[in-house]
Amino acid sequence: MRRPILGIETTCDETSAAVVDEHGTILGLVIHSQDVHRVYGGVVPELAARDHLRRIEPVVEAALGEAGVGRGDLGAIAVAAAPGLIGALLVGVTWSRAAALALGISCVPVHHMEGHLFGPVLEDPHAVPPFVALLVSGGHTLLLWVPEWGRYHLLGETRDDAAGEAFDKVARIVGLSYPGGPAIERAAAQGDPGRYRFPRPLLKKKGGTGSGGGGRAGAFDFSFSGLKTAVARTVAEVEARLEAERPHLAASFQEAVVDVLAGKTLAAAEAVGCDRVLLGGGVAANRALKARIREGIGSGGRLFAASPRLSMDNGAMIARAGLYRLQHADFGGLAEAAASAPIPGILAYERGEKITTTFKR
Ligand code: KG4
Ligand code: ZN
Repeated sequence: MRRPILGIETTCDETSAAVVDEHGTILGLVIHSQDVHRVYGGVVPELAARDHLRRIEPVVEAALGEAGVGRGDLGAIAVAAAPGLIGALLVGVTWSRAAALALGISCVPVHHMEGHLFGPVLEDPHAVPPFVALLVSGGHTLLLWVPEWGRYHLLGETRDDAAGEAFDKVARIVGLSYPGGPAIERAAAQGDPGRYRFPRPLLKKKGGTGSGGGGRAGAFDFSFSGLKTAVARTVAEVEARLEAERPHLAASFQEAVVDVLAGKTLAAAEAVGCDRVLLGGGVAANRALKARIREGIGSGGRLFAASPRLSMDNGAMIARAGLYRLQHADFGGLAEAAASAPIPGILAYERGEKITTTFKR
């Protein structure tokens, strides 16, 4: 395909459109972050869907304008079709299907988390497999071994809350605003990470990969709900001086999350035998997390993480993943908007299995 591809993202509370050319270069990108949810301290699905409906046309127009590309110049439309809030997804998917039909071009459904895997390569051509990927967003926490695009070995995932969800919930508990990740990071900068010793759930868990779902947790699985409860208990104890303790609570919580996320990612990189690590999803914007992983892999390894603008939900990563799917004529079984769906190409990483790579830097 020689013509540019339009990427549409409406899975949660960002309405975004981007134009990416056939080499994967961003020509135009517009992200509208909904602020209708702020007063509720979390995303209200119905409000999200209505806001997407209001915004999608002007956001697409602005992205095309920035790119200097007309609708008739487009080669395809890629749309995040799963997972996400169903009402929000339906706006993007229905708009994209209708537009593709009217223009006589393909509509490529993309898995949102595969989009996050393609975020860093938009800025750095070296951000390609093989790598161990930690995908951390508001809805997901996934640790993957990616020997090549389209082959995603699941090493671990969260057993309860996602990492971003933990940031959002703890922010609310300590009296910070939504979205919680950036608010916690800002508050933590003024706090002492050693003031409170919060639990590091499953950090020392031994063994292979988990059995998924309701089975036993594996060495690379995560759990954040106990940590959230521990913060809530401490907040109840220090209620009277919460204002003064807030930065320390934020810093101590962030330290615990970073210990767990970085600890498991580095252990996975070692187990797989690959010191190339990719960080994706909104939580990848966290500087403490990036610094810790970079330090752990040392000067010989590589850390790939997109800039904050491309770590958050955006249409460019969807267009880039769509380009890959289109070039391989493989839509990974995605068809309709779906609130949940596995990443296309996800593979079990068998318990005890040792996958080694012959890749040399
Ligand atoms: O990928 P994303 O933009 O949306 C979803 O797919 O969910 O991720 C949003 C999540 C939110 O939970 C937000 O609090 C978190 O990413 N986040 C952060 C930071 N920036 C955003 N978490 C920690 N530190 C940050 N700097
Ligand atoms: Zn996301």
